Amino acid sequence: MLDFSFSNPYTLTFDPYGPFAVLYRLFFSRSGSVREKDLSNFANKRVLITGGTSGCGLECTKAFARAGAHVIVTARNSEKGEALREEILEETKPLHITPKVDVLELEMSSEDSITAFNSRLQEYPSLDFVILNAGIYQTDFAICEDTGMEQTLQMRRRDLSSMTLLAMPLLLRQTTQGRLFIISSEAHAWANPQQKLFTALMEMLNQPDTYPCYARYHINPTRVLTASATPGFCRSGLFRSFSGKTIADYLERLVCRTPNQGAWQYLTAIEDMDAEVHGCFFADGKFRPSSTAATLAKEEGLQDSMWSNVLKMLPECAQHVARELSI
Ligand SMILES: NC(=O)c1ccc[n+]([C@@H]2O[C@H](COP(=O)([O-])OP(=O)(O)OC[C@H]3O[C@@H](n4cnc5c(N)ncnc54)[C@H](OP(=O)(O)O)[C@@H]3O)[C@@H](O)[C@H]2O)c1
Repeated sequence: MLDFSFSNPYTLTFDPYGPFAVLYRLFFSRSGSVREKDLSNFANKRVLITGGTSGCGLECTKAFARAGAHVIVTARNSEKGEALREEILEETKPLHITPKVDVLELEMSSEDSITAFNSRLQEYPSLDFVILNAGIYQTDFAICEDTGMEQTLQMRRRDLSSMTLLAMPLLLRQTTQGRLFIISSEAHAWANPQQKLFTALMEMLNQPDTYPCYARYHINPTRVLTASATPGFCRSGLFRSFSGKTIADYLERLVCRTPNQGAWQYLTAIEDMDAEVHGCFFADGKFRPSSTAATLAKEEGLQDSMWSNVLKMLPECAQHVARELSI
């Protein structure tokens, strides 16, 4: 569906999220380094970060640990979790602080792993921030063995929805405004879905012969602020299975950020979040208005259709949030 052609209005226009604008901002907008950032606002906050073993999630985890926050971070297995714990200890040793970091195992493609993770998560009294960062970039069609669903769909639709609903009660228990932060990509704006019914869109995305890798893509804001963000194009582990590696290598040399700079985007976004930017998208140092693709998805009913589908797919998680909201 990401075709750089005249049939896709989003790839050849000067939409603020189109590839031209994104490239322009990568060249010219400033992205600080999280190592130089004043982290005092994050001391003693309790934060959940998914996918902390690599790239931007790893840098973000280290920054929260340096800040004296209580970090709950996920790793896909115990070996990776152990390596992560050691890396954080190494990082904080010269600062003479004892990091408060809990590493929880979470393999999002496994229902059993999500269930085990959730029982540990619900032991915490509340959360200040949730950063749903874990993500993959999968250009080839691949199936998740547990569910039979295409892997990116599994991760971005089912797992992200369930993580959001599982973390929401803990954010709602926070006496100040909890902040939910979903890491996405500017590439969401390049999707050009022809289907306005979510189930029809999912059906198309879940078929190997019609799978286009770029097409995927009522809580009261006084209680939880929600936003999504992108770290921007970063040199991380994300493109490990990318088949067109030469283009990525070339772009990497030209415009790529470090995961450190990606993490700076996350932390700056969390600090800047307030009711005015509830539901907005953070990219290249600031909150920006919704992309045309997101606005159309809302206007044309795709967003509502997706929400009803999530409620049908995860009724228990939804009831859990409803109970917390007393509705
Ligand atoms: N890098 C970019 O240019 C870019 C641009 C736009 C948006 N993003 C978004 O930024 C976020 C961070 O990406 P990154 O660049 O830091 O990539 P990364 O280095 O590949 O990190 C991704 C993290 O997600 C974890 N993860 C992957 N699959 C998982 C699964 N099934 N269950 C649980 N955890 C899983 C990975 O664990 P392992 O270490 O075990 O693999 C890793 O910790 C992603 O959501 C990505 O889509 C990145």
